[in-house]
Amino acid sequence: MPGTTRTQVGIVGAGPAGLVLGRLLEREGIDAVVLEARSRDYVEHRLRAGVLEQGTADLLRALGVGDRMDREGLLHAGIELRFDGTGHRIPLADLTGGRHVMLYGQTEMVKDLIAARLESGAELRFEVEDVALHGLEGNAPSIGFRHEGVDHELRCDVVAGCDGFHGVSRGAVPADRLTVRSREYPFAWLGILADVAPSSEELVYTSHERGFALHSLRGPTKSRLYLQVDPGDDVEAWSDDRIWDELHLRMARDDDWVLHEGPVLEKGITPMRSFVAEPMRHGRLFLAGDAVHIVPPTGAKGLNLAVADVKVLGEALVAFLRGGDERGLDAYSATALRRVWRAEHFSWWMTSMLHQDPAAADDPFAVALQRAQLEYVCTSEAAATSLAENYVGLPWARRTLDAPMNRVPRRMREERG
Ligand code: FAD
Ligand code: DHB
Repeated sequence: MPGTTRTQVGIVGAGPAGLVLGRLLEREGIDAVVLEARSRDYVEHRLRAGVLEQGTADLLRALGVGDRMDREGLLHAGIELRFDGTGHRIPLADLTGGRHVMLYGQTEMVKDLIAARLESGAELRFEVEDVALHGLEGNAPSIGFRHEGVDHELRCDVVAGCDGFHGVSRGAVPADRLTVRSREYPFAWLGILADVAPSSEELVYTSHERGFALHSLRGPTKSRLYLQVDPGDDVEAWSDDRIWDELHLRMARDDDWVLHEGPVLEKGITPMRSFVAEPMRHGRLFLAGDAVHIVPPTGAKGLNLAVADVKVLGEALVAFLRGGDERGLDAYSATALRRVWRAEHFSWWMTSMLHQDPAAADDPFAVALQRAQLEYVCTSEAAATSLAENYVGLPWARRTLDAPMNRVPRRMREERG
């Protein structure tokens, strides 16, 4: 075939997972090719997440792609939980020994990674078509695709499936080899980007009887706001006026806090689901990011989890491709899944605590439980610390069950006298 080429790692998808993996490998001298179905312009402007865990931001710096993030991103030390017209600050940094999150749009992070890859000369092809994975169960997998009208075969040592929830990689695994666990939610998020300075310096997660609302930001002049809506809603049914009216109603605070309005630059509705497919490996195919798991967006874990997967995968690939050491690859799925399930629980918990389940509206017991949980998180240092450590991101290497927690926390020692 005229278009037959070879690389060590064939990476399908140029989202956060594929691009960070490509960068990690490039820095270690491993050859990789990134194949992306969409155009560069589309990928660079796809409006999505905006909260980077401290570990994600640190990794981008270590990979030499953190300069613009450090100049233009905003370090946040806390978030607000708002309900019953009152705001309650969760001091993330104080509760986690000084850890922060970085507000920096996924679009910007993706632009930085693409620019760095193209500048280095490493291969990245946009607008590839008909991607198909072959020979995954043997030692010489390959990726077939068409680019600029020419059919290609890319022969690889390993394939990384980083092509998001609707990609082809997960589907290349025989269905009987994957265990899928999932949950649909009876609501969705309507998100807008508004050309107006943020109304609050920190993120505001609001629980209201009309539904959840979130105030976030993109730099000093842009606000990013979200509303819980019905999953069947058409975005056209939400005029700008209706969106602002609803945001005002849900986010109202009893003091003089004001929500600033501005022109709506973009709006879209995102369904919410939890989804995990296991294992994250099939032969020489390794799945990462949204290709293999989805979290509901409350708590902003999706992007961070994608990056955490490829950090583990990248290190394992380097050990394998440099010295034939397969231990990291063999452990990849189990190692990554531990973090995945922690994030799945956190995202589900944040979602359940803050949204209105239409089915539970007539269930006073459910309503009271939700209220009790909110109050607990905002009044107990232990509960707030649990939220905070998950929000800023747990350490890459965490304690395991066979390493018992034998240290009694300082606070408990003091209480015991
Ligand atoms: P993706 O970003 O989906 O990247 C996959 C890439 O693969 C894409 O560029 C895609 O075009 C490409 N691709 C697909 N099929 C093929 C193919 N056959 N061949 C080649 N390439 C292919 N998370 C948050 O934390 N907060 C949010 O507010 C938030 N909002 C979101 C809104 C939407 C609409 C979506 C879909 C997700 C949102 N997320 C959010 C989740 C977060 O953006 C994702 O978790 C993150 O993008 C995952 O990165 P990824 O690289 O795994 O997948
Ligand atoms: C944003 C998205 C989230 O899912 C979240 O929990 C907080 C902020 C954002 O897009 O800014």
